[in-house]
Amino acid sequence: MPALLVRDLAQVVSPAGVGAPLRRRALAEVRVLERGYVLCENGRIAAVGSMADLDQASLPNDLVELDGRGRAAVPGLVDCHTHACFAGDRAAEFELRSRGASYEELHAAGAGILATVRAARAAGRDGLERALERHRTWMLAHGTTTFEAKSGYGLDAETEVAQLEAVAAAGGVPTWLGAHAVPPEFEEADAYLDFALRDVLPAAARIAEAADVFLERGAFDAGQARRYLEACREAGLALRLHADQFTEAGGVPLAVELGARSVDHLEATGPAGVAALAASGVTAVLLPVAALFLDRPMPPARALVDAGASVALATDFNPGSAFCESLPVVMSLACTQLRLAPAEALTAATVNAAHVLGRGDRLGRLEPGYAADLVLLDAPDWRYLAYHLGGEDVAVVVKEGEVAWER
Ligand code: NIG
Ligand code: FE
Repeated sequence: MPALLVRDLAQVVSPAGVGAPLRRRALAEVRVLERGYVLCENGRIAAVGSMADLDQASLPNDLVELDGRGRAAVPGLVDCHTHACFAGDRAAEFELRSRGASYEELHAAGAGILATVRAARAAGRDGLERALERHRTWMLAHGTTTFEAKSGYGLDAETEVAQLEAVAAAGGVPTWLGAHAVPPEFEEADAYLDFALRDVLPAAARIAEAADVFLERGAFDAGQARRYLEACREAGLALRLHADQFTEAGGVPLAVELGARSVDHLEATGPAGVAALAASGVTAVLLPVAALFLDRPMPPARALVDAGASVALATDFNPGSAFCESLPVVMSLACTQLRLAPAEALTAATVNAAHVLGRGDRLGRLEPGYAADLVLLDAPDWRYLAYHLGGEDVAVVVKEGEVAWER
């Protein structure tokens, strides 16, 4: 593969702090280099610098050049929480919700997540792969160069494994969401967990990197979540939780006690949860689109950051609670609804999100040694990424040193 030189960039922007995750003031520090270049070799960033210091003579012979004039470069965005491997849609449910039906009522009536379970089972392996390929392209077009995607729409051995394999085949980071809902063939959550831990976990643990659970009234309680997560940890999986989306039901203390990678949602988290997270190594993954889409309160992002918690941002892209694949939209909401600064939003959607996926040492920065994943914006200032709500400023997406998408 030839080397790639992105030259004459108006701005080269990267989180400035050292290590991951970045917290407190380090979350808000980005380095902005004017009139810069990025040199990529063998899929990694070889050098970043100012055009004035570029030594033309030392460039590799086999070189492709990309014109960066008028453009700002930021690290490829990392979406650390999606349900992108879904079939079908829930447009009819969206209309019912617009007329006042609640997400939780629909779920209790066998619609919601269970409607997508029926669609995923009917689609099978091929259908899921095709749908995910479509969704992957949508994400790429918004600057996402690394995505995580969960299972949880199969809830039987065959479809859960098909989902995880499809995610891995598409280059995503697979998470086993074996405890998402209780499928119709089981009456009790405990009986379903008996089955999932006995018949699905061994295969899931060979493909997935992490396990996730939906800890919520109407889904799984704290005792059931503990049992599921402890078994998954035993099988070698990192741990994540969906918690405090509608009610505070013990997800934060459980995540802290088990040393989970992340606890995600947190729309209902109060001051004790904020303090517990700030004192822990668990990253709070904030999903402002899900709060907006379901007309719920926003998570206490400012309090989490000010208290010193590790925070990341993600889309939660799924057909029910967040039909939105755009991290720039998430970053916009982070600035207008969560009261984060654009720099905090950028760090939270790049290196901190990479940390949640166990890749904070190699993804999410424009620095030598990091993956050559970058987004070029047709904008004079990188902050357009969050500022231009719903804007189409992503012009070119480079993944591992090659142009992967162009507007
Ligand atoms: O993170 N809350 C649970 N799970 C997903 C939604 C999945 C769905 O509605 O299909 C979420 O919001
Ligand atoms: Fe989710």
